[in-house]
Amino acid sequence: MSKSFLEDIYDRDNVPDVTALYDEWAATYEAEILENGYATPRRCAEALARVAPDLSQPVLDFGCGTGLSGIALRLAGFETLDGRDLSAEMLAKARSKGIYRDLKHVSAETGTDGIKERYSLIAAIGVIGVGAGPPSLVQGLLKALPKGGLLVFSYNDHVIQDGDYAEARDAALNSGLAIERLREFGPHLPGQGLNSDVYVYEKT
Ligand SMILES: C[S@@+](CC[C@H](N)C(=O)[O-])C[C@H]1O[C@@H](n2cnc3c(N)ncnc32)[C@H](O)[C@@H]1O
Repeated sequence: MSKSFLEDIYDRDNVPDVTALYDEWAATYEAEILENGYATPRRCAEALARVAPDLSQPVLDFGCGTGLSGIALRLAGFETLDGRDLSAEMLAKARSKGIYRDLKHVSAETGTDGIKERYSLIAAIGVIGVGAGPPSLVQGLLKALPKGGLLVFSYNDHVIQDGDYAEARDAALNSGLAIERLREFGPHLPGQGLNSDVYVYEKT
């Protein structure tokens, strides 16, 4: 039986080297997460499609992983996708799906380089949270959008309850950086009894 990564990924006291974690998980990520009914990509993609004025605009799938979020975005009607990720192994899986116009391997420090006002739609699906990207990504990605641009992102139950992540999300609204266009609570990984919030924020 292959190793289960979901068992320890959310341990706040043992935060992993995220790049190494996803490089190691890439081979079995889809099997493990789909077995648990991973619902957040579809929910995020459909939420963004409801709010976005033009589905032909390119979407940056930030933290695209193996491309499950890209598949959901395509199924929701988005035509052009670019992806970025920390993990070369996850990106290789995404590349093999043939659904991205462009894929870029980034580091935690360079992730948002070169995207300022380049995309009016950004998705960070299952990306911001314990065991993945830092709270600062909420504001970092919003700041990269042009005025009126949309960011869809998700927080799973662990992230919703984490003070640092909750504060980063709320500060984006309280500081006037963005307004909330949609927020919906629903299933994340039903096989693990986990739910998530999906948010669509508009840059002001
Ligand atoms: C749980 S996976 C989600 C992947 C994909 N979006 C999906 O829904 O299946 C989280 C992904 O975010 C990437 N990631 C984490 N922190 C990141 C960062 N700071 N910049 C870019 N990618 C990051 C990881 O490498 C991993 O592939």
